[in-house]
Amino acid sequence: MAVNVIIMAAGKGTRMKSTLPKVLHRLGGRSLLQHVLDAAAGLGALQAVNPVVVVGHGADAVTDAVGAQGRCVLQQPQLGTGHAVQQTVPALDDTNATTLVLNGDVPLIRTQTAAALAAACGGERLALLTIDLPDPTGYGRIVRDAAGERVLGIVEHKDATDAQRAITEVYTGMMAAPTALLKRWVMALKAENAQREYYLTDIVAMAVAEGVPVVASPAPDETEVLGVNSPLQLADLERRFQRRQAEALMEAGVRLADPARFDLRGSLTCGSDVEIDFGCLFEGQVTIGDGARIGAHCVIKDAAIAAGAVIHPFTHIDGAQVGAGALVGPFARLRPGAQLGAEVHIGNFVEVKNATLADGAKANHLAYLGDATVGPRVNYGAGSITANYDGANKHRTVIGADVHVGSNCVLVAPVTLGDGATIGGGSTITKDVPAGQLAVARGRQVALAGWTRPQKARKPG
Ligand code: UD1
Ligand code: MG
Repeated sequence: MAVNVIIMAAGKGTRMKSTLPKVLHRLGGRSLLQHVLDAAAGLGALQAVNPVVVVGHGADAVTDAVGAQGRCVLQQPQLGTGHAVQQTVPALDDTNATTLVLNGDVPLIRTQTAAALAAACGGERLALLTIDLPDPTGYGRIVRDAAGERVLGIVEHKDATDAQRAITEVYTGMMAAPTALLKRWVMALKAENAQREYYLTDIVAMAVAEGVPVVASPAPDETEVLGVNSPLQLADLERRFQRRQAEALMEAGVRLADPARFDLRGSLTCGSDVEIDFGCLFEGQVTIGDGARIGAHCVIKDAAIAAGAVIHPFTHIDGAQVGAGALVGPFARLRPGAQLGAEVHIGNFVEVKNATLADGAKANHLAYLGDATVGPRVNYGAGSITANYDGANKHRTVIGADVHVGSNCVLVAPVTLGDGATIGGGSTITKDVPAGQLAVARGRQVALAGWTRPQKARKPG
């Protein structure tokens, strides 16, 4: 069954108090709208193609964000949800019997819930996604007949009587309608209500009047239908979203020390027996191999961490690969292009950028390796750095197998240290060092006998 999808995203979002259009605020690293687009894209099996996105406030920015994922129609001015759907009428495909209406600011709707709503419509019925809320203030209420069975209409909070306001069954803002009927109904809407708006919800009474069946499908989970109107609600949904992701990972066997202190803004793929301590943030695409452990408070983005690696607390990894059994941190920083082989050790306050470290290489303390190729089993001393930048261009440092770089060395690139070379502590190396040789490049130590320290001048009197 093919469906049309409408995503309403023209509203202002006044309560966000932000210059950014509301639907572009981020949740779990993706915009609110992107979550809805992704849920719609998941309907792919139903051949839902090219959602129609209604844009208005911040239309240019929202249109850019939609890109090729949908077709945008402009609603200017914004005269209500019914008016929003009116703008989509020319863009709706008549060959799809069902049209699904989603909201750009209700991000956590699941594909399966949207699919079930479309199925409840089946091109013949008007299907409303509803929920029972202890505090229904502000929502449109589902009005039923005296027997509490047939749905008769939706009444908006502002237009409702006290008796209607007592109804706790509310409309979530999402529906699925027969395409041809939806088009006719929205074009017939009138703005005769408390807000002088065209209410999409008024089509329910039209359906009832025409004898079109109306079904109210309860949402499976409150989180799926919560909207974002304020920073407080955004933060609440963020935690719910993170909890959802954390639970999925734990169900897959990942051991999270505390699912309430876990953040994923992207995708995380873990092998078996992975342990993640509290307070970590994962961004982009991260993979973690079997038995790897991530310490507390790490920030890890676009990285591949191989089996058995241990990332100690407070480590920052971005665009890097960590080999099997490697030890990294605490307080280490791996920047884009850092590629660590198996059993590599990177210790505290070590920064690695665009550098390959072969198996067993170690840089344990206070060091910088940038634009470098480091051979196997190299020992890179505390306080040593590659001087890779001459003020205009970057140059490479090549360090052969089994090289020992003493403490506090400066390797001025471009420079090559041959296999097995040794660099004396405190050296500034500007020329290549042949394999197996010791290079020392520092001022010779001088000891002066009979030297006395300057004394403080005495004040006269
Ligand atoms: C709507 C429903 C209400 C329901 C509630 C659920 C109507 C008349 N009422 O009310 O029954 O309980 O959602 O949250 O539909 N939008 C546009 N153009 C407009 C107006 C709105 O694109 O002119 C978009 C908004 O950006 C938003 C969505 O439509 O994504 C809903 O609009 P909103 O103003 O939040 O509707 P509510 O008054 O909350
Ligand atoms: Mg709303």
